[in-house]
Amino acid sequence: MINKQTSMKTFGALLMVLICVGPGPQLSAQSEEEGYQLWLKYQCDICHYNQGHGKASATSNPLAGTLLPFEAFSALTRYPGNRMLPYSEKELSNEDLRAIWEYVRRQAPSPKLEDIPILVEWLEALE
Ligand code: HEC
Repeated sequence: MINKQTSMKTFGALLMVLICVGPGPQLSAQSEEEGYQLWLKYQCDICHYNQGHGKASATSNPLAGTLLPFEAFSALTRYPGNRMLPYSEKELSNEDLRAIWEYVRRQAPSPKLEDIPILVEWLEALE
């Protein structure tokens, strides 16, 4: 018999499944690794650090967890500001660039400084 309590339980279980699955499709371990290898191959890591957590310049954003849509990400890679060298389509195909974008936008963004307890402790000790 399906009573109100049972359907609430089913609803709750469904909700948990949705929360656990999270937003959007996840990359398979293989495409995650392929994206990372391309990130290294084209040496994005040299200026944007490990998985894109660093800031390549004072005014640019870290690439990890970027919210840029592919078109904007691609435009900024092909026609960057004045410090990054441009990557033409001949040097870096759209396919590889898309794999890099898929990889880097799924990296968790860097935590804020005040969310890293040991850094807060060090800063307080310096004061
Ligand atoms: C030589 C250092 C260097 C390398 C290598 C490099 N970048 Fe950059 N990148 C920068 C700098 C510096 C900026 C800030 C804009 C500028 O001054 O050109 C930037 C900015 C960007 C931005 C815009 C970020 C924003 O929102 O502000 C994107 C997207 C980007 N880079 C993608 C890439 C990708 C993808 C690669 C590898 C294929 C790469 N970069 C390799 C130095 C680099």
